[in-house]
Amino acid sequence: MTAKNVKVKILGIVGTPIKNGNCQFQLEAALKQAEDTGQAVTEMVHLRDYKFSFCIGCDKCMRNIHKIQAKVGHDVSPVPIEGYNCSIKDDMEILHAKMTEADGIILMAPVYIASIPGQVKTFIDRCRTFVHDFRLQDKVATAMTVGFFRNAGQDTALDLMRTSLSALGLNIVSFGAAAVSTRDGLGVPIRETRFGVQEDFAGSVMMSIAVKRLVRMAVLIKAGKMALEEAEK
Ligand SMILES: Cc1cc2nc3c(=O)[nH]c(=O)nc-3n(C[C@H](O)[C@H](O)[C@H](O)COP(=O)(O)O)c2cc1C
Repeated sequence: MTAKNVKVKILGIVGTPIKNGNCQFQLEAALKQAEDTGQAVTEMVHLRDYKFSFCIGCDKCMRNIHKIQAKVGHDVSPVPIEGYNCSIKDDMEILHAKMTEADGIILMAPVYIASIPGQVKTFIDRCRTFVHDFRLQDKVATAMTVGFFRNAGQDTALDLMRTSLSALGLNIVSFGAAAVSTRDGLGVPIRETRFGVQEDFAGSVMMSIAVKRLVRMAVLIKAGKMALEEAEK
């Protein structure tokens, strides 16, 4: 593969208790746009399909990281962790593997009381190892949300997701994208469709911008790394 025909892997993670809802619809549209660039392959995971529990704050992930750093040195980044680094054996193991294999991540969650659903926060907490092991350092991420109203918590939900993704060591691309699932964002459900979000033109424009930038930055990072490896040969 040359830097010219680099393809990146974009992982879309949707966190809502609702299957086949507006968030899933919007994320599927985003991933299709990513594929349409011709430079991305995509995968979507719905957190509802995975069973995982709260972080118990045992610090085992950090102790493992410190043990490895004591051997290899504290300036080695990413920390060479083999496999899953969490004391709780559940489906987070699958999700961690998917995250470490991706070049770019889209985190999508609905606005819940000007924030995100608890499941998504639990998912983020369970990713603590990445804060300290830097395994996501060469990947990009963006956040997306869908709410009932135009200005009723989208910004705070997006901000929370962006900051969390950044804390996990990811490079954040764009503001992210907010959309509404009601007509004109006025809180009145659209009777004719289950997917009101598809009527939100402003929301789809925001989404396109975020997707294009995400794919571009993921490609640039991957191509840059390939070029560096080539130069060091
Ligand atoms: C518990 C709960 C809290 C919500 N809080 C907000 C809110 O603060 N602001 C908002 O605009 N919409 C809020 N909503 C509406 C959802 O964000 C909206 O219905 C969204 O389309 C849900 O996405 P989904 O169809 O993928 O589940 C809330 C919904 C629920 C169930």
